[in-house]
Amino acid sequence: MILHSPWRADFPALAVLEAQGQTYLDSAATAQKPQALIDALTGYYTCGAANVHRAQHQPAERATRAFEDARVKVARWLNAAGPTEIVFTHGATEALNLLAYGLEHLLQADDEIVISALEHHANLLPWQQLALRRGARLVVLPLDAQGLIDLPAAAALIGPRTRLLAVSQLSNVLGSWQPLQAVLSLARAQGALTIVDGAQGVVHGRHDLQALACDFYVMSSHKLYGPDGVGVLYGRGESLLQLRHWQFGGEMVRVAEYHRAEFHAAPLGFEAGTPPIAGVIGLGASLDYLAGLDATAVETHEQTLHRALLDGLRQREGVRLLGAPSVALASFVVDGVHHADLAHLLTEQGIAVRSGNHCAMPLMKELGLTGAIRVSLGLYNDGGDLQRFFEALDRSLELLR
Ligand SMILES: Cc1ncc(COP(=O)(O)O)c(C=O)c1O
Repeated sequence: MILHSPWRADFPALAVLEAQGQTYLDSAATAQKPQALIDALTGYYTCGAANVHRAQHQPAERATRAFEDARVKVARWLNAAGPTEIVFTHGATEALNLLAYGLEHLLQADDEIVISALEHHANLLPWQQLALRRGARLVVLPLDAQGLIDLPAAAALIGPRTRLLAVSQLSNVLGSWQPLQAVLSLARAQGALTIVDGAQGVVHGRHDLQALACDFYVMSSHKLYGPDGVGVLYGRGESLLQLRHWQFGGEMVRVAEYHRAEFHAAPLGFEAGTPPIAGVIGLGASLDYLAGLDATAVETHEQTLHRALLDGLRQREGVRLLGAPSVALASFVVDGVHHADLAHLLTEQGIAVRSGNHCAMPLMKELGLTGAIRVSLGLYNDGGDLQRFFEALDRSLELLR
């Protein structure tokens, strides 16, 4: 049975890539874009670009309205309490750096920042560098055999010196939903602030941040079928009040004098300079597009495709899956085959998958690997994509063995 995606035609790049002989299986790195987003970007640029929050002329008013509408759409998508809890950044990485600078004043020597062993470099290095600046300790929660944060170990490691906890919702390497509620409550019980890296998680299913009750959540637009160059920092109302300003310049300031200044509160106080206006408006259009889809149908499609991916990999001799992926991606190595050689042959056959350390070098080291191949799926992928991947995989393994 060939599994079709009813949404494939909404993404014009898929047909172009197919005509070029390319099978795109790298959506966890960045997703292709729906026509609705492309139309919104074209519309914004052709109707007159203007800066936001500054001028009173009509184009500026129109741009500001569209920009602020997008903030409302993001707030709704995440079920934030309101749009003032949404800060636009240039990516999830920038949002995490913002937090690491904005919360720096809360840390003293010997305080602890807790992360997990599977974090993307974006959710490791800002905290590592913060710990170095403040003489604080970075504590790393180990994983269990399934690749999930080990809860008994977490209970032992999260303690009265824990000030910040920053963990991923869904691993970009292992594809496993993490036991977030349990880990967050351990941190909350110690009075620590909780930060969730939702860069991968936000793409699959709907998430209710009020129910999750984390202090901060970051996501990137480009993985959620939106434009690149845009990220989101969600902060719970009272948690945002703890943030110190970190970038200074136009529009984030209420009163500027030569020797002192007064700054806006969030969100504007954390959006210094011209924001990615077109990108934010585009993200709003992508969310409108996604909101118009049948969420259950999308989930079923993603699950069916993911099961077929896992089954196919498990059937192949010598293929070793990393962790126990729950959704949309699978990373693997093959006994006796170097991942870079395999990636090279797959690339030659037009298979666009990711290989290497996936920006998670410490995790790779823990797994005793230098790299792995990652196949990741978007809602536009179909059974034909998987068939082409497996045919190319079999041909490559035949050559390499
Ligand atoms: C888990 C995770 N966190 C953070 C990031 C960084 O996101 P951005 O590209 O928006 O900076 C990525 C990107 O791959 C990711 O997978």
